[in-house]
Amino acid sequence: MTFTISNCIPSYANHRYKIQHAFMKKIIITIDGWSSCGKSTLAKQLARELGYVYIDSGAMYRAITLFFLRNHIDWTDDIKVRDALKNIHLSFSYNDKLQQSEIYLNDENVEYVIRDLVVAEKVSDVAAIPAVRTFAVKQQQSLGRHKGIVMDGRDIGTTVFPQAELKIFMTADIAVRVDRRFREMYLKNPNVTIEEVKNNLEMRDYIDSNREVSPLRKADDAVLLDNTNLTMDEQLAFALILVRQIIGQTAVRQES
Ligand code: DC
Repeated sequence: MTFTISNCIPSYANHRYKIQHAFMKKIIITIDGWSSCGKSTLAKQLARELGYVYIDSGAMYRAITLFFLRNHIDWTDDIKVRDALKNIHLSFSYNDKLQQSEIYLNDENVEYVIRDLVVAEKVSDVAAIPAVRTFAVKQQQSLGRHKGIVMDGRDIGTTVFPQAELKIFMTADIAVRVDRRFREMYLKNPNVTIEEVKNNLEMRDYIDSNREVSPLRKADDAVLLDNTNLTMDEQLAFALILVRQIIGQTAVRQES
């Protein structure tokens, strides 16, 4: 199933839709796509609207990378990788104040440190290691066993939940993606340059889509969402239409 999005979703764009939770069938929603095309923004919006759990699978690969870097693990050595994985415990906890779930590495909140460029520069290499993927995918699948989950990443619709009821594959122009990531990173580190951010995105996209295990690709039954020219409200409205088609419930419209 592939829809191409038109730039106007007129009657929905300015309203918020809350699905009635009580009668709602719980589904699994997967959001895959290129780096920095707004997957986590959409996933968080959807989870909030639907009362679902949001899981950022990329955060798991980032936390593993952080552990490897801190402990000087040689990740080209399969035995060292497998030993190191035995010492990694990952969990998510919801931060009520910030209204977001945050990742913990061995009980330390690493939600912010994993976003550093130092981690971003290595994470695609680490995420390409078969043992690392097996470790992460197992936990991701277990997080989805009760459904009612939105998970974003690169292989969620193809490998983690191939049976998911709704799969979205996101894309956006590279210039727009670089601009979005640069603004985000600049707030934390004003020394970062656009060139660095662009190189990092292109490198990760290349490694993620060319690795042997679970490369980034659109699942055949995923809906394509190009948000280059969409506002956040428009992309949410588009996704909620898809959700309603699957759940078959009437959405309750609330003026925002
Ligand atoms: O979504 P992100 O940028 O935080 O992801 C970080 C890296 O992890 C990204 O370069 C690819 C990898 N990743 C992956 O291989 N599979 C996933 N399901 C999620 C992320």
